[in-house]
Amino acid sequence: MSPQIDLTTHIDLPVATLPQAEPCVIVIFGASGDLTRRKLMPALFHLACEGCMAGPFRVVGIGRQAMSDDAFRAHLKEGVAHSAEIQQFSEDEWQVFAPRITYLPGDFADADTHTRLAALLGTLPDARNRLYYLATAPSAAPAIIRGLAGAGLNREDRGWARVVIEKPFGRDLASAQALNKIVAEAFDEKQVYRIDHYLGKETVQNILFFRFGNALFEPVWNRNHVSHVEITAAEPLGVGHRAGYYEESGALRDMVANHLMQLLALTAMEAPVAFDADAVRDKKIEVWRSIRPMTPEDVARRTVRAQYTAGTSNGESVPGWLGEAGVPAESRTETYAALEFFIDNWRWAGVPFYLRTGKRLSRQVTEIAVHFHHPPLSLFPHEEAVQSNVIALRIQPDEGISLAFGAKQPGTARRAVPVSMDFCYRNAFGEHPPSAYAVLLLDAMRGDATLFTRRDGVEAQWRLITPIEEAWAAQTEGALPGYAAGTDGPAEADALLARNGHRWRAISGNLGACTA
Ligand code: BG6
Repeated sequence: MSPQIDLTTHIDLPVATLPQAEPCVIVIFGASGDLTRRKLMPALFHLACEGCMAGPFRVVGIGRQAMSDDAFRAHLKEGVAHSAEIQQFSEDEWQVFAPRITYLPGDFADADTHTRLAALLGTLPDARNRLYYLATAPSAAPAIIRGLAGAGLNREDRGWARVVIEKPFGRDLASAQALNKIVAEAFDEKQVYRIDHYLGKETVQNILFFRFGNALFEPVWNRNHVSHVEITAAEPLGVGHRAGYYEESGALRDMVANHLMQLLALTAMEAPVAFDADAVRDKKIEVWRSIRPMTPEDVARRTVRAQYTAGTSNGESVPGWLGEAGVPAESRTETYAALEFFIDNWRWAGVPFYLRTGKRLSRQVTEIAVHFHHPPLSLFPHEEAVQSNVIALRIQPDEGISLAFGAKQPGTARRAVPVSMDFCYRNAFGEHPPSAYAVLLLDAMRGDATLFTRRDGVEAQWRLITPIEEAWAAQTEGALPGYAAGTDGPAEADALLARNGHRWRAISGNLGACTA
């Protein structure tokens, strides 16, 4: 571990209070599902406790199961009380929140469900503004969108109507375009909020503040100074009870097509002319459009997919992917993906952007590491041990930013050793930031679409991912490379970087961490 200089201990900066939502009714489709219970309701409860929910807000949950309001509230309470997002669950606050929740059983594809929803909204005191949240399987989205339009619930005669659509948004370019078309027939683009929860994370939002709120970093943020960029999202967990979904999706669709592409865009984009929804999204889309699409030969050379094999996770023996319950023995779904992208624009020409993500890796690390060139001459012994300077934006855990550089080791040896300067969120701001879902729900209720994906953005991402999916699907022979659960990934991914003389940062090692 290299010595660290913590720049922020005890600074204790104030955390800004959250703004108010516009008064509205939140309608959640897929109300009895996991996302509602584990993420959406804790986020709404948190916002209510913080005083952000204005006026007589109401939450209407729609699900297939028959359930009373009370049973629904009890089901949600369980999730909220045990949510990691809620620091201290207060029974008193829940008693104020719970009566605002109503349950409406119904089939999303049945027009009657939407008619009953319209009737219910008609009885609520202030339902002029409506936020429809699709927390459902992607296949349900077309029926819901059409159902809402059929019942006139897309109209904005008396207030606003917005629709929030969860990822995955389609499974390839053609299906995303088809879904976009259905959405566009019912809603104007300004009513549509395609959510990617990574954009709600404080540390992800901070990428733009770091880059464009300081004069120090931007001059070196380009091909003249940067040698390569690594973007990692490593998870120690498997897929839990989501094997069915994951078997259809795989690491590329689940993580790269959205979360990692967003991190890449924020790292590489030009400065927007303003910090508003269209200006920011225009610049991100420019990045995706500048990425060189892969031919089948590129896919063979510049991508790696792999599956975990049996190993150890958190000290426990775990089976390999093919031994997981619900996974077909012949599954070719990747649980790990690594890619090398090139951004063909003036700022980044020739700089490799390496992306990797996987399940059952050695530990949780999401970070962006920007590696700078070596000095032109090596004057000091052991300088090679220092390697190049790296700025690491740590998204999670140990949220922070570190700058690795070489320093003279005290003594007469004239020896350079690696050290790092660290900014640590926890030390600087103390409190837990609001969850990504709380941030994004609040933005949607305030009409700010900056952190949501626009129609052309989704399609630009799929334009890059679909050729990779197609080339992988065409390779039906031979076993996929493997990596033992609990390790840093397959040897093939190391080889991908090694041929450029680069090396992944060790996931299992110390990648810079908050010390206090
Ligand atoms: C989801 C993926 O979008 O993101 C999951 O479907 C993944 O497979 C999750 O585990 C990771 O999110 P986070 O916020 O825990 O990094």
